[in-house]
Amino acid sequence: MRDGHTPAPGAAHTQNRRLLQWVADIAALTQPDRIHWCDGSEAEYDRLCAELVAAGTLRKLNEALRPNSYLALSDPSDVARVEDRTFICSKRQQDAGPTNNWVDPSAMRDTLKGLFAGCMRGRTMYVIPFSMGPIGSPIAHIGVEISDSAYVAVNMRHMTRMGAAVLSTLGDDGDFVPAVHSVGAPIGPGETDVAWPSNKQHKYIVHFPEDREIWSFGSGYGGNALLGKKCFALRIASVMGRDEGWLAEHMLILGVESPAGVKQYVTAAFPSACGKTNFAMLIPPPAFAGWKVTTVGDDIAWIKPGPDGALRAINPEAGFFGVAPGTGYDTNPNCMESIKRNTIFTNVALTPEGDVWWEGMTKEPPARLTDWQGQDWTPGCGRPAAHPNARFTVSASQCPSIDPAWDDPKGVPISAMIFGGRRSSTVPLVTEGATWDEGVYMAATLGSETTAAIVGQVGVVRRDPFAMLAFCGYNMGDYIAHWIGMGRRIAHPPKIFLVNWFRKGADGKFVWPGYGENMRVLKWIVERVEGLADATRTPLGYVPKYSDLDWRGLDGFSQDAYQSIASIDRDMWRRELPMHEELLEKLGQTTPATLRERFQALAGTLT
Ligand code: GTP
Ligand code: SPV
Ligand code: MN
Repeated sequence: MRDGHTPAPGAAHTQNRRLLQWVADIAALTQPDRIHWCDGSEAEYDRLCAELVAAGTLRKLNEALRPNSYLALSDPSDVARVEDRTFICSKRQQDAGPTNNWVDPSAMRDTLKGLFAGCMRGRTMYVIPFSMGPIGSPIAHIGVEISDSAYVAVNMRHMTRMGAAVLSTLGDDGDFVPAVHSVGAPIGPGETDVAWPSNKQHKYIVHFPEDREIWSFGSGYGGNALLGKKCFALRIASVMGRDEGWLAEHMLILGVESPAGVKQYVTAAFPSACGKTNFAMLIPPPAFAGWKVTTVGDDIAWIKPGPDGALRAINPEAGFFGVAPGTGYDTNPNCMESIKRNTIFTNVALTPEGDVWWEGMTKEPPARLTDWQGQDWTPGCGRPAAHPNARFTVSASQCPSIDPAWDDPKGVPISAMIFGGRRSSTVPLVTEGATWDEGVYMAATLGSETTAAIVGQVGVVRRDPFAMLAFCGYNMGDYIAHWIGMGRRIAHPPKIFLVNWFRKGADGKFVWPGYGENMRVLKWIVERVEGLADATRTPLGYVPKYSDLDWRGLDGFSQDAYQSIASIDRDMWRRELPMHEELLEKLGQTTPATLRERFQALAGTLT
């Protein structure tokens, strides 16, 4: 093999010629020592985890405290998505648009050929067949990831429906999205591997939208490496949605049932690490007896017009890759229950007893820990114990609030869509778009402070249209136009809302209590859909007066505090609107006229 022979194909349980040919081609290019076709079984998962423990990538946690669970500590330079290394290589640059990095596809293919040549030497190449959506369902799509990382293979088993059943459904001539991943760290003869292989010089997360093809090089982390998630289910799927008349969105999906037994489903799009997992698993405050919230998904929604004229949504994923810091029994008990067992943790801290810990998990930190870089840690040592983007991977089926319809191929009917960013000022607690187009404008001009989910500066306000800035696989202006068109094509478009849980007071602290208390806003939203709740018209849209929200059981939150996060401050909006204008200018020719008109109207009334 090391001198250029093609490795044996391994036991492939498929006759799919395109798949067999592609695997052979990639093996010839990347030169792995072995090829393993993943069957998705528990035995395979256990064996791969044991191998990862032996290699030092995973550490087995205390079986009594955290059964069947593992901890991975990544290389300190490989901790988050790399947006500046993410490329949309459409044939025409204008189809990638002004918000994506673009490289000519043939030039990029040359670069990739050079990078991938021999890049799997000394490693096993895993062939990972997966389904986004329930296997065999008409709305599901199949992908196959080739990866030289066993860590990727075991995480894919949590995050997708993975293995032999997917190959059976694919059949001899079924279609799939090919996704090639390498950590970019071949092992030369006589060399030993490191615990977290990656490539410090070269990272490439590449999409060929016309060919529906993904290539990822140099990172083993999350959205860079688990290619079913952002690369397929958002970037490639958004292009499929544009061409086929549906939407692939960075949204959670939740069910909310009122004491009267009326059940609605709602989606919510927030940028990375801005509260989707928490909102999806919300537990209503005690005063809201009879209200129930259930979880369909926490990160991605595929939304298609249904035969009844409504939009129906599915969660294409099968697991959660959630942010650990800030998650505790006080903020998200459903999540804490979900990750009690059968969980892979990445970049959290380790307790002396062999359990995990992170900031926000408990009020009092343990007296001693091993931090995410493997160093001794004590409270007050000045370093965080867990990386701020530390995560867990767990099967959705372990979530106590999982909705009975969460893997129903028909999807769930959506009656409201929420958008939200992390804004310490300016944006009110909740606003309802008076029309679909007003809602689209709010979503398109969404601003948010950057978080640790992205490599780069944290806390900088940027425009993040639809929370899709990093995930739209085509021209953002065309994407917004597609949204406007969807509203025209469906008989009953959902109401659109904008929320902001993150306004801060003069003391620098969040004013709104958030988490379970977000139920107060959610209740108003579903009651607006039912026509039960009042609102006031403002230049921005409909907003609730203090008395329009249900305040039962919330002590210590004054009407003044509410005014401070619900009011529309014209000085702040005078500073905000130029940032909208900047986005519209950036989108240039592709900016839909309705957006420009709405901007003019806002500029006329607010400044
Ligand atoms: P991705 O998985 O990166 O797409 O993000 P996500 O939107 O699912 O993020 P997640 O729900 O895990 O939120 C991460 C951070 O938001 C944590 O630090 C939480 O503590 C914080 N957070 C979530 N909900 C609230 C809230 O209602 N108020 C405040 N202040 N913080 C919140
Ligand atoms: C995000 O960054 O929005 C995530 C985590 O959901 S990752 O899978 O790494 O993209
Ligand atoms: Mn996400």
